Amino acid sequence: ASILVLNGPNLNMLGRREPHIYGRQTLADIIEELETIADDFAVRLWHFQSNAEHALIERIHQAMDDGTEFIIINPAAFTHTSVAIRDALAAVNIPFIEIHLSNVHKRESFRQHSYFSDLAVGVIAGLGADGYRFALEAAIKHLE
Ligand code: DQA
Repeated sequence: ASILVLNGPNLNMLGRREPHIYGRQTLADIIEELETIADDFAVRLWHFQSNAEHALIERIHQAMDDGTEFIIINPAAFTHTSVAIRDALAAVNIPFIEIHLSNVHKRESFRQHSYFSDLAVGVIAGLGADGYRFALEAAIKHLE
């Protein structure tokens, strides 16, 4: 199986970015942990982070042709703004889990709406970096 992990804007700053909200683990730490799990299950894991909406959209389009069977996406701020990334996910029709490190529901009101949740297989929020691990386990189970 092939699973794509996508991370949106400012997530390259994890570990240094508002650690009281987003934790101290870097994105590299998180991906390394996911790769260990993926190896155990003989799953191919791809990872892509971008601060640019168009780059995320093009990576999603590519997923239609590269054998990606499941997407785990933290759209970050684009969660609350991007009809275009939503449409890209709908276009490729690959099942996905939406994930957030923080519990967006107990933060500012502008974070309460997601353009993704109604299309997602499931949503994980507020469990920090562990959420990525839970998402990967759920994705593997979904593909079994
Ligand atoms: C986030 C929550 C978003 O509201 C925010 O814009 C982010 C990160 C999270 O992982 O908690 O950049 O997606």
